[in-house]
Amino acid sequence: MAQVILIESNKTMNDLLSVNLTTYLGVDLIHRKNATEATNLLAILPSIDLIICNANVEGEESANVINEYLIENHLEISLIVLGGNVKKPTEHTISIPSDKDWEKVVQTSAQVLGINEDVLAKKAIPDYVAVPVRYFLNLDTSNCDVFIRIKKSPTEYQYVKRIHNGDAFSKESIVRYGEQGLEFFYVPKEHHKNFAIFLSNRLVEKMDSPNLDETQKILLMGESYDIATKEIITLGFNSETIQLTDTIIENMVKNFEKSPEMSGLLHKVINSKTGSLYQRSHMTSVVACEVIKNLKLGDQSANEKIAFAAFFHDIMLTEREDLSKINSFEELEKAQLSEADWDLVFNHANEASQLIKNHPEAPVGADEIIRHHHGAFNGKGFSNAIEKLPDLSKIFIISHHFVLELIKFKETGGEPKPVTEELFRRYPSPDVAIIIKALERTLKKKK
Ligand SMILES: [Fe+2]
Ligand SMILES: [Fe+2]
Repeated sequence: MAQVILIESNKTMNDLLSVNLTTYLGVDLIHRKNATEATNLLAILPSIDLIICNANVEGEESANVINEYLIENHLEISLIVLGGNVKKPTEHTISIPSDKDWEKVVQTSAQVLGINEDVLAKKAIPDYVAVPVRYFLNLDTSNCDVFIRIKKSPTEYQYVKRIHNGDAFSKESIVRYGEQGLEFFYVPKEHHKNFAIFLSNRLVEKMDSPNLDETQKILLMGESYDIATKEIITLGFNSETIQLTDTIIENMVKNFEKSPEMSGLLHKVINSKTGSLYQRSHMTSVVACEVIKNLKLGDQSANEKIAFAAFFHDIMLTEREDLSKINSFEELEKAQLSEADWDLVFNHANEASQLIKNHPEAPVGADEIIRHHHGAFNGKGFSNAIEKLPDLSKIFIISHHFVLELIKFKETGGEPKPVTEELFRRYPSPDVAIIIKALERTLKKKK
């Protein structure tokens, strides 16, 4: 049995690779957390057949460290690098540019280990895709069979059907699975796309339902946001993800227009059980729209543009929520990130603005706001010299900054300090001062 070391910190990817490498290729899979653990193992077990390693694991250039070790110790072990490459590629290194392409990893591993496709085909075990249990809280039936995964032996998993196609199930039953520590259900791979469509449609229907109170609606929007952004990053835009994002954005705008005062709405969002990327998006949209209203600058289309930009501005950081708090060059340097993470943060505004050009219904100018959201005209890095940017971009930057500080305060506590003072200091131009003063006015305004 071939021995394979796997170093991958993304849990979903690790799960997918584990199950497929063991069931399809029948390898003996050894998990290691980082390069040090892997090289320690290699020191006592140099007969490993293959190493699969993400280029960057939690800030460490893991694949590179391992490659250096292999070269130094003259070990001829194949190394598959996910999401990048090593600095000194050899005939034993294979780079797979996308670190989500698990199918390619399985295929390449088969080639490296000399397992031919006939063997693969004979193992007619169905393929499953992991779906977080909490997604099912929004459903009461499923359009395909749903399984749970059970470990049969150290290298084998078994799938047990828990929900039949078309069966009704209660929310309580799903909650119970969650309480028992189950994180994922599994749906057969060939049904995954249809399931995603089914789920998107259900979320859209629910969001449009008039029976929800505001708290429930915010919760649902938050969950839909998580689902939509993850689907867009892995599957790209399709008619369902587009419809889902449109509904969320439309609701963000409606929600704002309906609300008599901003602070109440912000309060509800910040205290809702939703992810922090979603909270920041929704709150930025609310604050920016309020400032626009206060300055009598915009109309309905400005609100839509802002809500759209708020939704997508940090989409490149969907899997890296921790990095989305960085809001200055100093913070970026202080974070001591790996080269890849540093690049990701540095370029995320520009990349997000490129990405939404593929969205057929993006409001004109939303990409510009996204590109400018950290102050840099070209969407690369950070800048405080924002006075030359268009008004909507300036308003977005100020609102986004304000919201970041608000959430930071909620998370870390301490003495409440007037955030606007910091804003005046950081963006010291008269044009920007007008916007910050408008923000102050909206903060003082009560019902
Ligand atoms: Fe952000
Ligand atoms: Fe950002």
